[in-house]
Amino acid sequence: MEHEHISFPEAIRFIANKYKIEIEETEDSEAEKEKKEVTDSLYLINDFARDYYMDTLFNRNEGRNIGLSYFKERGFREATINKFQLGYATDERDEFTRKAVEKKYNIDFLRTLGLTTKSDADFFRARVMFTIHNVSGKVIAFAGRTLSADKKQPKYINSPESDIYNKRNILYGIYFAKEAIRKNDECILVEGYTDVISLHQGGIENVVASSGTSLTHEQVRLIKRFTSNIKILYDGDAAGINAALRGLDMVLEADMNVKLVLLPDGHDPDSFLVERGSEGFHQFIKDQEEDFIYFKTKILLKETAGDPIKKSIAIKDVISSIAKIPDTLKRSIYIQQCSELLDMREALLVSEVNKIIRANIKAKKIGIPNQPDPDKNEDEWLKQKTVLSTIPPELVINDAWQEKAVATILINYGHEMYDVEQNITVAQYIISNTSEILQYFDTEIPKKIIELVQDLLSKCSIPDHQWYTQNEDESIRNFAIDALTTIYVYADWDSRSMPLQNQKMPDENYIHDASNAILRLQLKKSKRLIAQIEDYLNNASDEVKSSEEYSINMKTYIYLIGQRNQIAEKLGTVTL
Ligand code: UTP
Ligand code: MN
Repeated sequence: MEHEHISFPEAIRFIANKYKIEIEETEDSEAEKEKKEVTDSLYLINDFARDYYMDTLFNRNEGRNIGLSYFKERGFREATINKFQLGYATDERDEFTRKAVEKKYNIDFLRTLGLTTKSDADFFRARVMFTIHNVSGKVIAFAGRTLSADKKQPKYINSPESDIYNKRNILYGIYFAKEAIRKNDECILVEGYTDVISLHQGGIENVVASSGTSLTHEQVRLIKRFTSNIKILYDGDAAGINAALRGLDMVLEADMNVKLVLLPDGHDPDSFLVERGSEGFHQFIKDQEEDFIYFKTKILLKETAGDPIKKSIAIKDVISSIAKIPDTLKRSIYIQQCSELLDMREALLVSEVNKIIRANIKAKKIGIPNQPDPDKNEDEWLKQKTVLSTIPPELVINDAWQEKAVATILINYGHEMYDVEQNITVAQYIISNTSEILQYFDTEIPKKIIELVQDLLSKCSIPDHQWYTQNEDESIRNFAIDALTTIYVYADWDSRSMPLQNQKMPDENYIHDASNAILRLQLKKSKRLIAQIEDYLNNASDEVKSSEEYSINMKTYIYLIGQRNQIAEKLGTVTL
């Protein structure tokens, strides 16, 4: 479907034909046949209307004198007018409708399409006409622009929605732009019909218009069939900027890259191209294009300068945009850059972004397969997770942080190789190094996970991400979703003082992270045992001190101190 830009049934036939597979096509039901006949009739009527408006524009006095001369004054060449099938509707009350009925077109269908009003008058009168095509070039609707300066008149009127025209699904110009979009691997988005036509004429053909409304999901999906790169050209006034910002999050969610070019105040792409000419226009776009998130960040910072409360709201706004980006790597690059722009610690931004991602997963806004249903203790769960990801590890008194870190790394990277030569996976490494200390675990879920994985490994099976996220145990599912989104927080927390941009991405780091997490957990556990034994030794009475138990404890104590120092040495930290 995506490669050939064809529909699903067409794709099936295409593949079947290619591999000489016979496909059995079922007959359309009566209702389906009828519906198809209706839409065919609607398309036919629209074709008739388009021909009629074009004929009026080119071949009749009123059309030539008013419509054609208007388009030419705007700089549209005849070839362009022809290509985009522009036209003209006269001021007569019902001229078009009468002609259509004469030709035996169904009056009900004319009304359905909005070409004819309830009182059988023409809907489009005294307007230049823009034909709207769907992605395969069929005429689905019209827009009529008045040439009168009368402010009471709407500038544009549009065909109503019908079986063949859904505003949300269509972008003006997509039929003429799709090849160029694919070729340039970029789609330029403008606001107006005339902008599309003008840019096209100026040699920029990968351009479509959202037609004055803000972008819809459906339109984004339509663009995504041809490219992942979108460049938005908007008027530099406040309304233009706001319109641009509104579309942003949705485009990010679709994992598209968004650039923005703001035109000088008062210009739209059409007028700016007329003023600068093709070359000047190209150059301007090249010089001015800006990444959307940085743009948003800068605008918000400028607007909120000197007002800390507004600034914090603005920062939240930026963070929530970043959280919409599905790609981890892209997200972390944005976080780096925005931490500079916002003058905020990167680790803090990371944890804020992760908070939102977790909340979105919980609210089912992000598609992780088979997410768990929010449980009764959701608030508690979220609170706990949030606290753990923001409080520095040294403030967590028990070993929860380290235990979670180990389990987090196990979930994220368990199936990766820890040691290729010895054929040891990260999971095997973690399991074999936690078996002795598992009994001292403070947290229930990491302990449970490690036990289950231990069991699986003994059966020669290594769990993948899905095993966790689709686990029958809800607490494991919840923990896993959290783990899969917070790895960046857990990884390498001992170098928090080092700016994160100087660190490797967690993905490149999992071997180092796994061994460090294990060492840190072992260190924690041995320190705790040492403290316990120390307590016993210090409080021992003279009688106890002479017992065998005391001397065993003393030996254990010395052994543990040695072990602790070894671990500390491996970790490269001085611990006493
Ligand atoms: P503009 O007012 O910028 O118009 O509206 P334009 O396309 O630049 O037209 P010219 O250059 O003045 O001739 C941008 C788009 O908003 C929608 C249309 O799709 C228009 O192209 N619009 C605008 C309407 O649908 N209705 C209106 O009344 C005005
Ligand atoms: Mn304009």
